[in-house]
Amino acid sequence: MSPEQEVAKRRTFAIISHPDAGKTTITEKVLLHGALIQKAGTVKGKKSGQHAKSDWMEMEKERGISVTTSVMQFPYADCLVNLLDTPGHEDFSEDTYRTLTAVDSCLMVIDAAKGVEARTIKLMEVTRLRDTPIITFMNKLDRDVRDPIELMDEVEEVLNIACAPITWPIGMGKSFKGVYNLLEDTVILYSTGQGSVIQEERHIEGIDNPDLDAAIGDYAAELRDEIELVRGASHDFDLDLFLAGELTPVYWGTALGNFGVDHMLEGLTQWAPAPQSRATDVRTVEAADTRFTGFVFKIQANMDPNHRDRVAFMRIVSGRYEKGMKMRHVRLGKDVRIADAVTFVAGDRAQVEDAWAGDIIGLHNHGTIQIGDTFTAGEALKFTGIPNFAPELFKRIRLKDPLKTKQLQKGLVQLAEEGAVQVFRPLRNNDLIVGAVGALQFDVVVHRLRTEYKVEALYESINVATARWVMADSERELEKFRDKAYDNLALDGANNLTYIAPTMVNLQLAIERHPEVRFLAIREN
Ligand code: G4P
Repeated sequence: MSPEQEVAKRRTFAIISHPDAGKTTITEKVLLHGALIQKAGTVKGKKSGQHAKSDWMEMEKERGISVTTSVMQFPYADCLVNLLDTPGHEDFSEDTYRTLTAVDSCLMVIDAAKGVEARTIKLMEVTRLRDTPIITFMNKLDRDVRDPIELMDEVEEVLNIACAPITWPIGMGKSFKGVYNLLEDTVILYSTGQGSVIQEERHIEGIDNPDLDAAIGDYAAELRDEIELVRGASHDFDLDLFLAGELTPVYWGTALGNFGVDHMLEGLTQWAPAPQSRATDVRTVEAADTRFTGFVFKIQANMDPNHRDRVAFMRIVSGRYEKGMKMRHVRLGKDVRIADAVTFVAGDRAQVEDAWAGDIIGLHNHGTIQIGDTFTAGEALKFTGIPNFAPELFKRIRLKDPLKTKQLQKGLVQLAEEGAVQVFRPLRNNDLIVGAVGALQFDVVVHRLRTEYKVEALYESINVATARWVMADSERELEKFRDKAYDNLALDGANNLTYIAPTMVNLQLAIERHPEVRFLAIREN
């Protein structure tokens, strides 16, 4: 297969959803439909994942399991699909956000009984940084859900994206009959209780087909009326608008009942973009470029109790990785030979022989790789647009033994470089403030400080609502602001000036008082 073909057949996506909408169940079914059929059901289950928050072994077990699903690759139709896991429940973190900047499309899963929920709104905001194309799956149609038209209206209004229904549900809950495909004019009937196998689907061609009346009775007439209404009131699918992130194709079904997930996969493989080009400080790198390039978007530690190491996840942007190849670690200006990149195929670490643009590979990392690092075939360029996100939770961290300040700082800076948390040092005192996007990260940091840096630390609550990186057009203006807002300013792990706001109102006032300063919730490496 030519390099162009290798790239063209790849689809790299992630799932965005609110906890409990069905991401895990959909992932299982996606794998069931992919080649990993025998593995379906082994994805992190909620029951096995429940853990006492302070119990690290359990936590690690949880992480160990969920890491096997960090990247899942499977063939579907003529494509090779990469599904990147987006940590969701307790393990929600900045990684979740950053992973979304390493994919070419996203699947948005909505619990159709609940509609658009908070986490989904937040994650959609992140996808907007790159105008990532979004495919929507309305889940749990086997339950009594909300009115489908109302649900689509809510998506359009709250998430500001046009909806183009590709399928349309017939009934719901106990009377869920299946879906009608508006593009193909076909009804696909639902049969219950077949969740763990791929069931035969019964198709009826044409909405006016009398077979439909025989199959679903009165629902047939209702469906005909409703579809007329839906066709009139909703958007037609438009590939360009989809690729621009302005319109989402919408599918309906039940992940638990394994119905509709394959319809969605058809859409994904047919329409979602192949690996996209990416900007660097020098030039735009095209996916079809034969020279190897990639960037690191996530670093994970203690992934497997048997391998106490860290793995850096790299998205290949162009070219081909081959086992044993030499890469330039651009930030360090050093060439490294990579003989043992890994991928994670449902439970086992597997060695990659080769990988192409759009694929994710894991590099063993002994502390020399940071989030945002670029690797090339020798060229000196750096990928831009790999963001840090302002934390949403803050705690002051304190040492039990004050003599170990140096170790604590070193540990925190390194953990911050991995992207697990961020650390801020206020200008006006010697506090150390840890900021995170997900609460579990606080526990992880204390545990790792203890085991890896031999430091006993504990947290105290602190009155911080949010943080913003600050920038101005000139050094002079920033200096002036630094003097005026001294009490609220801190330096982050990479010495960037940051405004620490005790309340959102305080932040708002600061923004109003200092129009010459930009307050950024997102900072690019
Ligand atoms: P998440 O990863 O997005 O958090 O969601 P997950 O797949 O774990 O699903 C959350 C709950 O919703 C699970 O139930 C799951 O079985 C259920 N669920 C997922 N898809 C469907 C669906 O299409 N229909 C119905 N009725 N339920 C669905 P749970 O009771 O919390 O967990 P479990 O005991 O089933 O593991």
